[in-house]
Amino acid sequence: MSSTNGNKIERDEYPTPIPTVEALLSKLTLKHNDTFLEPCRGSRNIFDRIDLPEEQKFWAEINEGVDYLNTSFSQKDVIITNPPFSLTIEFLRKSLSELAPNGTLAYLQRVNFLGSKCRVDFWAEIGFPNKTPVIIPRPRFVNGGSDSCEYMWMIWDKGNRFEIERGISHLISK
Ligand SMILES: C[S@@+](CC[C@H](N)C(=O)[O-])C[C@H]1O[C@@H](n2cnc3c(N)ncnc32)[C@H](O)[C@@H]1O
Repeated sequence: MSSTNGNKIERDEYPTPIPTVEALLSKLTLKHNDTFLEPCRGSRNIFDRIDLPEEQKFWAEINEGVDYLNTSFSQKDVIITNPPFSLTIEFLRKSLSELAPNGTLAYLQRVNFLGSKCRVDFWAEIGFPNKTPVIIPRPRFVNGGSDSCEYMWMIWDKGNRFEIERGISHLISK
């Protein structure tokens, strides 16, 4: 997608491919009064597919003048995004702090984000996601060129809204 092929798009503007969004959302059951946040909605590929009344849906997007990292949100029940990968740690810390006690959080990421010496302390601090479906086939990002990394949805599903096995599993997209 970005650093793996040497090309980098400003602000990591890589919309999540629609089949990748739909595969995830096909496993999601929302409660009628859930509130939802998309921290960087970009081209709205996730935001527009969340089946809740508009007044229960919240968003940030730096290109629309709302910097997520500088904007406070009240607690939300469901937070789903594909963040700018260069800011994943900052985004995740903020999203976890804004998640309701029985909330559900899903972030798209490369599988190798789970490793790396530099993230050992980070993972010890925030705790691993309890569901990590690896996306099959590997998503292809517009303008991203070829990318040999595997991707997953990292899910902290305290509210048990995703019908996805705990631990590592596969999520097949069409
Ligand atoms: C990888 S794209 C994903 C967009 C969208 N979440 C999706 O799934 O299609 C990352 C998005 O983050 C936005 N962005 C970057 N830094 C941001 C920030 N500090 N606050 C809010 N949005 C930001 C970019 O403009 C871009 O639209």
